[in-house]
Amino acid sequence: MLARVLSAALVGVEAALVRVEVDVTPGLPAFTTVGLPDSAVRESRERVRTAIRNAGFPFPADRITVNLAPADLRKEGASFDLPIALGILSATGAVTNGRIGPFAVVGELALDGQIQAVRGVLAVGLACRRQGIDTLVVPVANHTEAQAVEGLRVLAAPTLRDAVGLLNGNADAAAPPPEPPAAPATDDLDFADVRGQAYAKRALEIAAGGAHNLLLVGPPGGGKTMLARRLAAILPPLTRDEVIEASTIWSVAGLLPRHGELMSRRPFRAPHHTISVSGLIGGGTPPHPGEVTLAHLGVLFLDELPEFQQHVLESLRQPLEDGRVTIARASGVSDFPASFQLVAAANPCRRGCPSLDLCICTPAERARYLGRLSRPLLDRIDLHVELPALAPADFRAPAPGDGTETIRTRVGAARQLQRDRLCATGIRVNAAMSPRQVRRFCAVPAEAERLLAAAMTHLGLSARGHDRVLKVARTIADLAGAETLAVEHCAEAIQYRSLDRQWRA
Ligand SMILES: Nc1ncnc2c1ncn2[C@@H]1O[C@H](COP(=O)(O)OP(=O)(O)OP(=O)(O)O)[C@@H](O)[C@H]1O
Ligand SMILES: [Mg+2]
Repeated sequence: MLARVLSAALVGVEAALVRVEVDVTPGLPAFTTVGLPDSAVRESRERVRTAIRNAGFPFPADRITVNLAPADLRKEGASFDLPIALGILSATGAVTNGRIGPFAVVGELALDGQIQAVRGVLAVGLACRRQGIDTLVVPVANHTEAQAVEGLRVLAAPTLRDAVGLLNGNADAAAPPPEPPAAPATDDLDFADVRGQAYAKRALEIAAGGAHNLLLVGPPGGGKTMLARRLAAILPPLTRDEVIEASTIWSVAGLLPRHGELMSRRPFRAPHHTISVSGLIGGGTPPHPGEVTLAHLGVLFLDELPEFQQHVLESLRQPLEDGRVTIARASGVSDFPASFQLVAAANPCRRGCPSLDLCICTPAERARYLGRLSRPLLDRIDLHVELPALAPADFRAPAPGDGTETIRTRVGAARQLQRDRLCATGIRVNAAMSPRQVRRFCAVPAEAERLLAAAMTHLGLSARGHDRVLKVARTIADLAGAETLAVEHCAEAIQYRSLDRQWRA
């Protein structure tokens, strides 16, 4: 008997439907899986055999052949256990299969027949909708996640026996949705805790206002890490589409919480400086998404930037420019979304001296340390901020300035102006404007033109740097609620290119 069950394989951060064909014929008992399975898929026959028996069904003492089609697509992981088991049970007549219409199945089996959570269910649900499959059978732990796909009927089964009941049209087998998770504890990262550093706080507000890249340079203990970690709290919430986009990536990476709750905040990724190129950009065979993709629509925070290996830093150049990363391997080319906001922090010298006056490093050592950050990389960072060491008076000052809530409101208003202005262009933030859009939306008065021309000459600004200054000026104007760019907006934006000046020195 031949049976077919639909399932899906993960390809990068998307899913492709896979036909699981199971043939059970009389002959010497054997169990063969073909169709480019990896070792986890090949091992599934041991789990499937034991789970079927422990769920109370007879396992056929026949020749079983499982084909995963299309055969040229690599199949990974344990999510094919459930479709293979249901295929065998259909071929032997335990599943009648005709009652619920076209459906797809994913799930890993435990030896006792329980169905375990799998990665990438959101991507599978979206693939089903694209292909006109309106029912998806999932593990109970993935129920909430799958339900986020509009128009998809989700059936969740806790055990193999329940899944068989579902396919046979037994509604009682449908599992109740899992308990809603407890509200996440709110973290207490507030801007009001940061004393002094008004200039850096302003830069963070501008960075959040237009999704600009930011570099904080300053002595140890001045608050760089503290400030950067507070950025996520002032960013606007994800829109409905962005929630699905970011959650799909995190689901494929297995990072969504076990109860399948979708992401409610923008991602904030802070990898350690020992990370490799493939960890940061993505890689492996087949390629897996890296930190830049996990930070898509959120923040990638690189603390102690010059400590990262230089070739790792240089690998950021393409995603920073394109908002995507393309990984070519002998087996094919993968393209991952990577539209993130880079926030980086660095000490001005290797020893982390408290200030320039007290620095015991030689000028050559200092130049070598920040010199690890190449010109093309710095050019892609819109805001360079030099933090002074915190003065004792600042540290004891009782009134520390605006708190997170106030700043978030201003940022939200500026982002709304951008969305309205850019609505016909397909982008949402100033930082993503193309050169042509910069010409169109960032017209400046003649006086500001002269200022920018002088900055290009004296700071050695590149053409890209020039455009990035204009984008930052546009955000500064948006934060001020100004329709047109004025000379003071451009002047403030130019101030944030301090490392261009050092590069010239
Ligand atoms: N501006 C500030 N206001 C209030 N507390 C501060 C400030 N700067 C530093 N601190 C205190 O010092 C601690 C260390 O600050 P932080 O880790 O941000 O320094 P850093 O600049 O990142 O230093 P390093 O270069 O060594 O990483 C903070 O947790 C906080 O308690
Ligand atoms: Mg730090």
